[in-house]
Amino acid sequence: MEPIIQISQLNYSYPDGTIALQDINLEIDSGEKVALVGANGAGKSTLLLHINGVINASKGIFINGLNSSRENLGKIRAMVGVVFQNPDDQLFSITVHDDVAFGPRYQGLSNKEINTRVEAALNAVQMQGFRDRHPYHLSGGEKKRIAIATVLSMEPAILVFDEPTAGLDPRARRELIELLRTLPQTLLIATHDLGLVQQLTPRTIIMNNGCIVADGSSAELLNNKDILFENGLI
Ligand SMILES: Nc1ncnc2c1ncn2[C@@H]1O[C@H](COP(=O)(O)OP(=O)(O)OP(=O)(O)O)[C@@H](O)[C@H]1O
Ligand SMILES: [Mg+2]
Repeated sequence: MEPIIQISQLNYSYPDGTIALQDINLEIDSGEKVALVGANGAGKSTLLLHINGVINASKGIFINGLNSSRENLGKIRAMVGVVFQNPDDQLFSITVHDDVAFGPRYQGLSNKEINTRVEAALNAVQMQGFRDRHPYHLSGGEKKRIAIATVLSMEPAILVFDEPTAGLDPRARRELIELLRTLPQTLLIATHDLGLVQQLTPRTIIMNNGCIVADGSSAELLNNKDILFENGLI
């Protein structure tokens, strides 16, 4: 079976010249749960933004066998759900319901199915009572949960999370980790939360200065104090 995410020789510099990714090579199989860790500025978010084409690379990225060129972007976005680092980048509707319904509606589902999806996604993040609230008038952690629900409701094959536990209270964090553990989908999670890595993702990729410097078993890498220290992780 071919990998569901395949990245080869990917380089990226921002328009101002900042080098953000250097020679990234990566394969992730369907159903794998993978953590992406590294110090601030290592390139994690930049890499994630390439995976659903927010940043469009001309070559080097295949999602489910599809080259992430402009003509495939619609199909790729239907397969990859991304929860951004900042929930304000994700929430734009007048009500929580509309934000969580946006993806399923775009997928052309019936109203009945959309409502079922919205309810299930809000239940999953314990935000059932917030359907009619304005997304901008929520606390940081509440926004984060709604941002996660907007992606869960799409049930995409690949879920990409940028710092999903940042800003969550301990109970919400624990429940999110439990939820993610039960999902059958491929998960790629950028995080500074090594507890999440230990509990959820058998594989870890470490980035430093735009490069992948380690890729292997989370249990082994989390036990390697030298590599954690060198890469700003402890
Ligand atoms: N819009 C931008 N324009 C120019 N440079 C950028 C931009 N966004 C990020 N960078 C730079 O690209 C590099 C990688 O940043 P990125 O946001 O991918 O890091 P990160 O690993 O996600 O960090 P963090 O842990 O702080 O979220 C950094 O040097 C950063 O300063
Ligand atoms: Mg980031």
